[in-house]
Amino acid sequence: MESNLQKYLQFIEDSVKAVRFPEKPASLYEPMSYILRLGGKRMRPVLTLMACDAFGSDYKNAQNAALAVELFHNFSLIHDDIMDKAPLRRGEQTVHTRWNENTAILSGDALLIEAYKLLLTYDAGKSQSLIKLFNTTATEVCEGQQYDMDFESRTVVSIPEYLDMIRLKTAVLLGCSLQMGAILSNASAENQTDIYHFGVNLGIAFQLQDDILDLYADQAKFGKQIGGDIRSNKKTYLVLKAFEDATPDQHKALSALIQEKESDQKVTNAVALFATLHIKEKAMAKMNEFYTTAMKNLAHLQISEEHKKPFYELASFLMNREN
Ligand code: IPE
Ligand code: IPE
Ligand code: MG
Ligand code: MG
Ligand code: MG
Repeated sequence: MESNLQKYLQFIEDSVKAVRFPEKPASLYEPMSYILRLGGKRMRPVLTLMACDAFGSDYKNAQNAALAVELFHNFSLIHDDIMDKAPLRRGEQTVHTRWNENTAILSGDALLIEAYKLLLTYDAGKSQSLIKLFNTTATEVCEGQQYDMDFESRTVVSIPEYLDMIRLKTAVLLGCSLQMGAILSNASAENQTDIYHFGVNLGIAFQLQDDILDLYADQAKFGKQIGGDIRSNKKTYLVLKAFEDATPDQHKALSALIQEKESDQKVTNAVALFATLHIKEKAMAKMNEFYTTAMKNLAHLQISEEHKKPFYELASFLMNREN
């Protein structure tokens, strides 16, 4: 990543490294350290630090809130990988594959609890504001994850339903990460709302990108199983757009395809069908719509141009990422 982001990234990497869990029981705490050590982009905690900085406070004051969102994110990934039957995460075995599902459930729960402990380290007024936002967000993430699972077994899902699902499962956490930084910096209610909406639109673009990468990324760089969404019948934008634009014959072929059991062939066939319909390009166009809206939100934010730079950098890094 580029220059304006470096200080935040370095700070959060050092902060994550310093997180320590008890030794026993190792089967509870080791998976928690394992997932955190696997790295990741650390985008959410960076957003918290950047927002705190942008509204005029020392970003280091947002350390524990930033760690809390990263722990919450890692908790959600451990559980998501069970739900999605994913073998790989960040280039390594998922927690439930390396240990087992029960361990993954409990280690995930314990990470979530650690997040609350971190949010309680602020003074009472701040803690209450942070936890209130965090609770709303965490409930929405559960709602989004449940829609995501429900849609697997549904044959018809509309694009607006899909967009609402990804807003809930992914985008609101980006908005929350930013708003937490704004809260800690005593930003006005209006500024808090504005930066939250920037995060949500960026988050929707981010999840569209995630869906594109799921099928089209380079396995060596991606760190997750390619085609996982097709394998588990996810109703991603790619699938829904293909249904929308398909000829009657292609529609039939796609319906049959998504009912097949998971295999490499299933993924290959989806790629071939999507190519004839230019689905990747159409998904990228949709992603760019939300990215553009996010950029407009950012342009309107009442902070100095200097403070906007890291947000522009992070946003463009995210849109050009390979994992
Ligand atoms: C993965 O998030 C889960 C989604 C919401 C798509 P990231 O792509 O931010 O995962 P890491 O933390 O960088 O591994
Ligand atoms: C994950 O969406 C959203 C949450 C973890 C809440 P995905 O299931 O698409 O994320 P990846 O692709 O496994 O990272
Ligand atoms: Mg998943
Ligand atoms: Mg999922
Ligand atoms: Mg995904």
